[in-house]
Amino acid sequence: MPILTEPSIGHINDLADVISKTQFQPAWEKHNLETNPHWKIKIPDSILSSVLVLNHWLEARGYRWDSPEAKGITIKNLDLLAHVMRYHLTRTTGVVLLSGFDVAEFGESAGRLLLSQIGYALGSVLDKRGLLYDVCDRGQDYRQDNVLFSSTCTSPGYHTDSTDADLMPGIVALFCLRTAREGGVNRLANTLTAYQRLLKEQPEVLRRLCETFIRDKIVVDEIGTRSLSDRMRNSFPVFEYGRWYPGLTCRYMRYWIEAGHHKAELPLTDEDIFALDQFEAALNHEDSTYQLQLQPGDMIFLNNHLIVHDRTEYLDWEEPEKKRHLVRMWVGNNAFQRNAPKPDDMQLSHI
Ligand SMILES: [Fe+2]
Repeated sequence: MPILTEPSIGHINDLADVISKTQFQPAWEKHNLETNPHWKIKIPDSILSSVLVLNHWLEARGYRWDSPEAKGITIKNLDLLAHVMRYHLTRTTGVVLLSGFDVAEFGESAGRLLLSQIGYALGSVLDKRGLLYDVCDRGQDYRQDNVLFSSTCTSPGYHTDSTDADLMPGIVALFCLRTAREGGVNRLANTLTAYQRLLKEQPEVLRRLCETFIRDKIVVDEIGTRSLSDRMRNSFPVFEYGRWYPGLTCRYMRYWIEAGHHKAELPLTDEDIFALDQFEAALNHEDSTYQLQLQPGDMIFLNNHLIVHDRTEYLDWEEPEKKRHLVRMWVGNNAFQRNAPKPDDMQLSHI
């Protein structure tokens, strides 16, 4: 049974009306990504060389990639790259993969500098757990309080990032430094495609997904017990329209919904569980899931409103210096507030 709260901005009353309003947004199935090469972009040499010069300049003066001195510096052609990326993130796929950064040759610090500079070119880099957050297995158990899936080697299942009602990153970026010994494969699915499928086949399930669910969330350094009203306040639907930007938003992670309802002592009903199961089935449909293994140096950018991501469970290396390591960045929704017309020049190979 949905949790009763005040009707909120973004609540979807007319399920079918969303389809006409989202025609500009990208819906895809696995084969569309497989046959579309445009979302895979090789980082132009001019950008790489500018970043390396800037990194050298910073290091020579004892600064780091996140020093204030690194902010506001112009990197040649970065705005053009950001323009093309914004177009793909909002209009064609919701996913961009950047390749061509050689971690072994250029170094991790230059990679962090490049990632953060791309973030600033797209919008605001959110500083929730530092500007860049290290995703690696810290040997923790996600079932314990205040443990993120990103600190474990477990598969979190399909999700969007952030379960905080007040914090919705627009873009999630992951920069791969090292891969695991086995597993850790990234999985992507499109939630607008799932919405369309459910509207056609199971509208009653979609209706439930457009009502609220309680979400548990991690509060760093939380003292005492969270009140029921605080828990209830962190409730929102899986699907909303227009709350964060002019488009459809999906916010989903099964574990944090189950934990939220459990801790509030308002267990999910059979109907709720059925709706979540059917949504998961739509996302995991054999035509839906696109899989890729990020390689060291790859940077993937996801529209966090439209694309759910997952990674398979992984077996890591014994040696600490070889362990799987990704760096995550969140970019705010101001990345989507600007119009994203098709760039005049989509060819980045000449810059
Ligand atoms: Fe994630």
